[in-house]
Amino acid sequence: MKPHTELLDFKTLGDDRGSLIALEENYNTPFAIKRVYYIFETKSGVRRGYHAHKYLKQLAICISGSCTFLLDDGITKKDILLDSPNKGLLIEGLVWREMYDFSEDCILLIVASEHFNEDDYIRDYGTFLKLATS
Ligand code: TYD
Repeated sequence: MKPHTELLDFKTLGDDRGSLIALEENYNTPFAIKRVYYIFETKSGVRRGYHAHKYLKQLAICISGSCTFLLDDGITKKDILLDSPNKGLLIEGLVWREMYDFSEDCILLIVASEHFNEDDYIRDYGTFLKLATS
């Protein structure tokens, strides 16, 4: 699969009680959902991620606070700020990612297309670059 990243805007269902966003597979989440996890209480100055995935598709949403993703397809690097629960970052294909600048209140929710599988990770940047540019 070709590397593909995209910032999605989710429709907020709001009324005078507050706001609600629903994520539904193959509707506003463009894959079948097998796993959800969240990263929270990230310590100040921490940078994490440092990997790419062979097959996994992910949708990342900052449901509280903010953080920034560095996305790298082996040729181009870009930084994407996630600072709203109505923004979702879709990552598909071979993309190196690092996450940084976590606010103290950041809760980063990840919706994933597969169960956890260490064999799907590429954790060495040199190996990633070789694969991405071959
Ligand atoms: P890690 O991959 O280091 O997180 P990040 O890429 O965000 O820096 O994951 C931390 C630990 O949690 C590692 O031992 C693997 C484990 N883990 C699971 O068991 N299940 C999961 O779904 C995830 C994402 C990680």
